[in-house]
Amino acid sequence: MLPKILHFSYLILLLILNKIHHSNSQPTINKKHTFGYTCNTNTSQYPCQTYVLYRPKPPDYLDLASIADLFNVSRLTISEPSNIANPSFGLNPDQPLFIPISCGCNPVRNQTLKSISFANMTYNIKPADTFYYVSSNHFGNLTTYETTMIVNPTLDIFNLTIGSNAYFPIFCKCPNTTQLRNRVNFLVTYVFQPNDSLSSIASLFRVTRQSIVDVNGDDINPYDTIFVPVSKLVKLNQPPGVPTNQTVVVSTTIDHDHKGVVVGLSVGLGVCVLLLVLVSGLLVYREVDNRKKSKERDFEGIKQGKFGKQGSERRIVKQLEQNLLLADVSDTLDKYKIYEIDELRKATNGFDEKNVIQGSVYKGFIDGKFHVIKKMKWNACEELKILQKVNHGNLVRLEGFSIDPEDASCYLVYEYIENGSLSSWLHENKGKLNWKARLRISIDIANGLQYIHEHTRPQVVHKDIKSSNILLDANMRAKIANFGLARSGCNAITMHIVGTQGYIAPEYLTDGIVSPKMDVFSFGVVLLELLSGREAIDDDGKVLWASAHEIWGYTEDTEKVKKLMEWIDKFLQKESCSVDALTNMMNVAIACVNKDPSKRPSMVDVVYALCKSDDLFYDISGNDFSTSPIRAR
Ligand SMILES: *[C@@H]1O[C@H](CO)[C@@H](O)[C@H](O)[C@H]1NC(C)=O
Ligand SMILES: *[C@@H]1O[C@H](CO)[C@@H](O)[C@H](O)[C@H]1NC(C)=O
Ligand SMILES: *[C@@H]1O[C@H](CO)[C@@H](O)[C@H](O)[C@H]1NC(C)=O
Ligand SMILES: *[C@@H]1O[C@H](CO)[C@@H](O)[C@H](O)[C@H]1NC(C)=O
Ligand SMILES: *[C@@H]1O[C@H](CO)[C@@H](O)[C@H](O)[C@H]1NC(C)=O
Ligand SMILES: *[C@@H]1O[C@H](CO)[C@@H](O)[C@H](O)[C@H]1NC(C)=O
Ligand SMILES: *[C@@H]1O[C@H](CO)[C@@H](O)[C@H](O)[C@H]1NC(C)=O
Ligand SMILES: *[C@@H]1O[C@H](CO)[C@@H](O)[C@H](O)[C@H]1NC(C)=O
Ligand SMILES: *[C@@H]1O[C@H](CO)[C@@H](O)[C@H](O)[C@H]1NC(C)=O
Repeated sequence: MLPKILHFSYLILLLILNKIHHSNSQPTINKKHTFGYTCNTNTSQYPCQTYVLYRPKPPDYLDLASIADLFNVSRLTISEPSNIANPSFGLNPDQPLFIPISCGCNPVRNQTLKSISFANMTYNIKPADTFYYVSSNHFGNLTTYETTMIVNPTLDIFNLTIGSNAYFPIFCKCPNTTQLRNRVNFLVTYVFQPNDSLSSIASLFRVTRQSIVDVNGDDINPYDTIFVPVSKLVKLNQPPGVPTNQTVVVSTTIDHDHKGVVVGLSVGLGVCVLLLVLVSGLLVYREVDNRKKSKERDFEGIKQGKFGKQGSERRIVKQLEQNLLLADVSDTLDKYKIYEIDELRKATNGFDEKNVIQGSVYKGFIDGKFHVIKKMKWNACEELKILQKVNHGNLVRLEGFSIDPEDASCYLVYEYIENGSLSSWLHENKGKLNWKARLRISIDIANGLQYIHEHTRPQVVHKDIKSSNILLDANMRAKIANFGLARSGCNAITMHIVGTQGYIAPEYLTDGIVSPKMDVFSFGVVLLELLSGREAIDDDGKVLWASAHEIWGYTEDTEKVKKLMEWIDKFLQKESCSVDALTNMMNVAIACVNKDPSKRPSMVDVVYALCKSDDLFYDISGNDFSTSPIRAR
């Protein structure tokens, strides 16, 4: 306890010193920084990771993808700190975004300036671009044309070559040692808007007006760049009416935060101890009841506290798990990480609404990586039973799980797949998937399905194949997700019909017959989506597979192809993809959505047929396709 108290008083001392320092310091006189901001590597640590606040600029920079390209960052690194729930939706021009930049102190060829701090953005010159136009419009005055000239000494400002690269220096600063000591972790670059006041900016960032004046002076004009000192980023883009209780007021938060930690710790410990007692009580009771002999030693251990806290919790979870699942699968559980429930709470800000991906699926940050965390009731652990049997590159990987004995919940933790669902790529972010990518995605899904149909015993049926359950990773490879409805054992009959309109196979809908052929049907619908860019069910309630049968019903082959070319995604029409490849995929899709399950191909046949299409296409384009998929049989 003593070191903690010492630490605490040290912080208070700092706080007091800081107050004195602040009351003495004069507001700095604001110089016009059209030539950028000089930097000093003696007092500040360069480079540093920081942020700019950017507002989307119509007409070219109104969506995350183009803004991310402009700043050469991934969409996720903008949507995450900017609190954008659905990165594929368009943005509106007033919506503030935090864009991460790497701020460096760069020597420049100007004797007066020597070094200025900026993030170096490469920009490809387009017709009618000038340094002034790009810096004041595209980059929203986050830089000036004067500084751009200094950074590009070799370019002739009056005769820019279209297609050449220019460097645009985005203004930034890294906190100096004094600021770091005052817990200023970022100096966010902000462009003062005509209707802004210092107080409005202070309230947007939840800092004091004085802290902004300390850094920037108080003579600020519209479109000047200012640096807002914050200890952490605020949550932007809150839906109206949601209060934010974030305290990021520089310096005065010091004692606050630490109190929070101490209280949090003791509450946390208390809850843990309580839980431990309750759970071990329950377990001991159950165990004595059920399997008297088997695990007696472990429970003695728990009761006598022979194991560390960590160890005994682990054992408890394990015991719960064994009660939960069938004995024959429990040994495979060792493959997975068992997360502490508190770890998941921390990763998701206490299962905050902001972290919801959809329903009870959350996004969380664990061990430096994003994960997907799905909350379910204990009785829904069927998915865990199935996932632990499967392991394939085209299926979303289960990383581990956790159990919350308190409210009888089970949490599954999966790898996070960066690029979101196929559905959003096809129907929201239209035109971004070329034919090559679509072909590869179709083969990936087919491989994943072939694996669960052919290589699991008993056979697994996914039961809910649809484009929103297909996720795309950073390399645009597809992975099948959401085994929530999946069942093992085939040719069962169920009375409880679940699934998604437009993808459900007719025999399942009418008779409740569960077989791998129902996945084949749904897969056929996904192929039709890939080909047509249309949704599985349209606004009038007409299903896509029915309209595909109409297109393909023509007897004349030439007529068929003509109809197909009119029907396919207009973005594919623009691409020069081979007619053979398109008709091949259409043939596969039509076979898959046959109303008679016995006439549908197996996934093995599908993989084979699609790869044929692949070969056809790549032979023509001269592109080699090295990761050749499995060709069974
Ligand atoms: C940084 O420190 C070095 C020596 O430590 C000194 O020579 C130099 O002038 C300092 N630079 C500035 C900008 O203060
Ligand atoms: C964009 O950033 C990546 C690293 O994140 C870098 O390798 C690449 O060269 C950058 N592109 C440009 C045009 O600066
Ligand atoms: C160097 O920077 C100063 C401002 O600090 C500016 O007045 C001057 O024109 C710059 N020189 C060149 C060659 O850009
Ligand atoms: C900006 O980056 C480019 C390449 O990434 C580099 O050639 C250039 O020197 C950089 N400019 C400055 C001032 O750092
Ligand atoms: C940038 O600043 C200029 C004035 O210096 C202003 O006319 C222009 O509208 C500003 N651009 C943006 C995007 O706010
Ligand atoms: C502009 O640059 C191009 C080559 O980059 C050159 O051929 C042309 O003469 C230049 N025009 C002027 C007006 O300097
Ligand atoms: C300034 O105007 C923008 C839209 O033009 C608005 O989003 C913002 O809230 C305004 N700021 C203030 C302080 O009124
Ligand atoms: C750090 O920056 C603040 C604000 O600009 C300034 O008041 C302070 O003197 C600087 N500290 C050092 C060590 O340069
Ligand atoms: C936010 O703070 C207010 C009082 O300042 C409190 O009543 C409210 O419960 C807090 N909300 C949350 C979500 O912590």
